[in-house]
Amino acid sequence: MANPLRDPQDRRLPRIPEPCALVIFGVTGDLARKKLIPAIYDLANRGLLPPGFVLLGFARRDWVDGDFESLARESAQAHARTPWREEVWARISAEIKFVGGAFDDDAAFDRLAQTLDALRDSHGIPGNAAFYFSIPPSAFPVVLKQLARTGMADNTKSGGWRRVVVEKPFGTDLASAKALNDLVDDVFTGPDVFRIDHYLGKETVQNILALRFANALFEPVWNNRNVEHVQITMAEDVGIGSRAAFYDATGTARDVLQNHLLQLLALTAMEEPTSFDAAEIRAEKLKVLRAIALPTDVSADSVRGQYLRGWVAGERASGYLEEPGVPAGSTTETYVAVKLGIQNRRWAGVPFYIRAGKRLPRRVTEIAIIFKRAPHLPFNPADVEMLGNNQLVVRVQPDEGVVLKFGSKVPGTTMELRDIAMDFQYGEAFTESSPEAYERLVLDVLVGDRTLFPDSAEVEQSWHVVDPLEEAWAGTTPEPYRAGEWGPRKADEMLAREGRAWRRA
Ligand code: BG6
Repeated sequence: MANPLRDPQDRRLPRIPEPCALVIFGVTGDLARKKLIPAIYDLANRGLLPPGFVLLGFARRDWVDGDFESLARESAQAHARTPWREEVWARISAEIKFVGGAFDDDAAFDRLAQTLDALRDSHGIPGNAAFYFSIPPSAFPVVLKQLARTGMADNTKSGGWRRVVVEKPFGTDLASAKALNDLVDDVFTGPDVFRIDHYLGKETVQNILALRFANALFEPVWNNRNVEHVQITMAEDVGIGSRAAFYDATGTARDVLQNHLLQLLALTAMEEPTSFDAAEIRAEKLKVLRAIALPTDVSADSVRGQYLRGWVAGERASGYLEEPGVPAGSTTETYVAVKLGIQNRRWAGVPFYIRAGKRLPRRVTEIAIIFKRAPHLPFNPADVEMLGNNQLVVRVQPDEGVVLKFGSKVPGTTMELRDIAMDFQYGEAFTESSPEAYERLVLDVLVGDRTLFPDSAEVEQSWHVVDPLEEAWAGTTPEPYRAGEWGPRKADEMLAREGRAWRRA
């Protein structure tokens, strides 16, 4: 009989995976060190890993298990969310293994296959393994070929489940995304492929669905009869750091608009799914992505920007072109803003303004639903001068929460009105701490819950939005903005033309 503790669908009970191995390719990279290994530690610390769990690292290093264990320990100590407990680490470290080799080294992959096979007897792991591709997409073909050649990708042969986890970027355009999807699908079957968009692992992002579909209050006004426009902002104060090679070939639209921002838009605008089943949610998101209308005049209703040197949070910041590794005269954007429409009955006529950028004044991601004004204001015009539109703001990060802004009478002897905010903050409302996005997503992979993972159709549909923008922008020079400013002036003008303004997030 199935153990109810291991039923991935039953969210009331702790979801604990079956005994399994997590194989990380590219274990010395940033993602593995800063996110994946700390996530494993946090899961173990919360008691969410099964007794038979093995962390298996693969990288081009002449290492023994102990070398990987030291790196993993350092990573977990530096980046885990939960308090450090030696006894928790002792349990993980006893089950850490390392296989060294290059991706084209058949012998190394044979050793990996043998190591996995041996876990059946040594750890009682019945063939269950997830392969995490924390590697550049250019390395996918060779690793997939090795997994196929050695039979490691084969569920039936292994006797357990075999899953693959693919990190964004999912291609650089529609054609390459399709090629990548085909490549992965040749080796793994659809349900065993987990595409990570870490924004979906964020607590506040999942809460969009709770807010909309668990309450009676919001859904009736969530439409073009009441909503004036929507703003989705992903602002970062950081620059491109040491990722010049990746970033310069990618730009903001491909880096975060194609995935994180369009996923936020999809969750905000989708219809109610018939259930919280992964397939139902994905189907609704896909419908919205398909209904997205691009601006008829891309040059007027979109803005690409690039930061110049300036000051962010009191510190001097270099311009994009001065960042180490950025080619002279690069025209890659570090900021993007675009006005999108959604062609369906609920949203026709409501603009969705989306913006993302690096080196903006502060880090903030939020979704702001700006409501129409009251149809009639029976007040003295001077009393309502300070009254804005009602707003519902989902603060994805930081200061996670939801804010409702509406007008209220200013205390006193006049009928003056002013906007005030009702503020729900996670930190105040809950004693429970939010798991880090990767912690949640790694657990979902291990229990086989696909709800928070975009499928190939969503990924491809998102490229249908970004590709035409990229085509229209080709050969154009991004608008300059000073580091520490809220993007190029043209982005303000884009909204001002329509009598609107970006929220000062
Ligand atoms: C990544 C992008 O997907 O998301 C980065 O590649 C960006 O450029 C990062 O900085 C932001 O993630 P978060 O979780 O810090 O908002």
